[in-house]
Amino acid sequence: MSTVPDVVAAGGAHLPALLERVEARLAWLAADHGGPLAGHAEATIAAGGKRLRPLLVLLAAGGADGDGLVRAATAVELVHSASLVHDDVLDGADLRRGTPTVVARAGRPMATATGDLLFARAFAELVGNGRIDEVRVLSDASSALAAGELLQRADAWDVTIGVDRYLLRCELKTARLFEAACRVGALEGGGADAVAARLGEFGRRIGLAFQLLDDVLDVSGPTERTGKPRGTDLLDGTVTLPLLLAREHDPRLAALQPRSVTTPAAAAEVCDRVAATGALEEARARALAIVADAKLRLPTGLPAAQRRAMELIADGVVARYA
Ligand code: IPE
Ligand code: IPE
Ligand code: MG
Ligand code: MG
Repeated sequence: MSTVPDVVAAGGAHLPALLERVEARLAWLAADHGGPLAGHAEATIAAGGKRLRPLLVLLAAGGADGDGLVRAATAVELVHSASLVHDDVLDGADLRRGTPTVVARAGRPMATATGDLLFARAFAELVGNGRIDEVRVLSDASSALAAGELLQRADAWDVTIGVDRYLLRCELKTARLFEAACRVGALEGGGADAVAARLGEFGRRIGLAFQLLDDVLDVSGPTERTGKPRGTDLLDGTVTLPLLLAREHDPRLAALQPRSVTTPAAAAEVCDRVAATGALEEARARALAIVADAKLRLPTGLPAAQRRAMELIADGVVARYA
């Protein structure tokens, strides 16, 4: 199984220092606003996370290492962090990155404003690059994210949604930001538009697979590894691929009304039933196929180290536990 350190090792000796610069910039941008909002923004950043999206930005840039690249990677992670703070409001989630969410700690108004601040900081950071094309890529992804979250709410509790509708939601709320990460990285690295587009296609697919796996992990847990409570999707009415597939195998699950599942213990029981049908393996297999397709999209002529690192990150998406 490939991990983030494996990817960094494969991607080149310039990466650890770049990632540290991104980390320092993230912390500074969160804290700089001052006041209670900054405290929550700082805590969100300090809680960690895998930093997959900034890593993708850096990898897509080839060997580039300028300040503009650091700004692009920082901006993408800020959009991601902002979206998580808002997502936890929408999903009513208590735990994120192994720590209480902003909404759990400080309530909806504070969490909404913290997410807003992080979004604003992201675009202020990207403006420093003076590149309208990058701003457009990231703002398109942010709009898609909002549309995806809205679609998720619109479809809440509905077990009759088809797999295509589920995939569209994943595409909007997750895959587009992965795509944007690869595109802005390629643009900062001086890549031609065609290369940036292909790297974007790669990113979009691994983003889709990433969300499929996230939805598998929501069912399989355990919380100690994911840093998020098991069964959250079911409890907030988010119908995901494992349940859609499991309903086809188990008549009791087919008859289940998600609204009747109201406690973590009941959700855990349903998760066990879903797992018993083999739906998790099926969903994983779908994610694996998407990753295989993603790798085929990598442009020919990529330097060997860059290709290897991008293939490893793609593999890591489907082999992960957190
Ligand atoms: C969580 O993303 C949101 C999804 C798209 C599933 P990550 O799992 O990358 O979150 P962090 O940044 O590592 O916490
Ligand atoms: C992804 O969906 C959230 C965003 C893209 C903002 P989830 O709701 O599944 O993410 P987690 O599980 O809360 O991290
Ligand atoms: Mg969520
Ligand atoms: Mg999830």
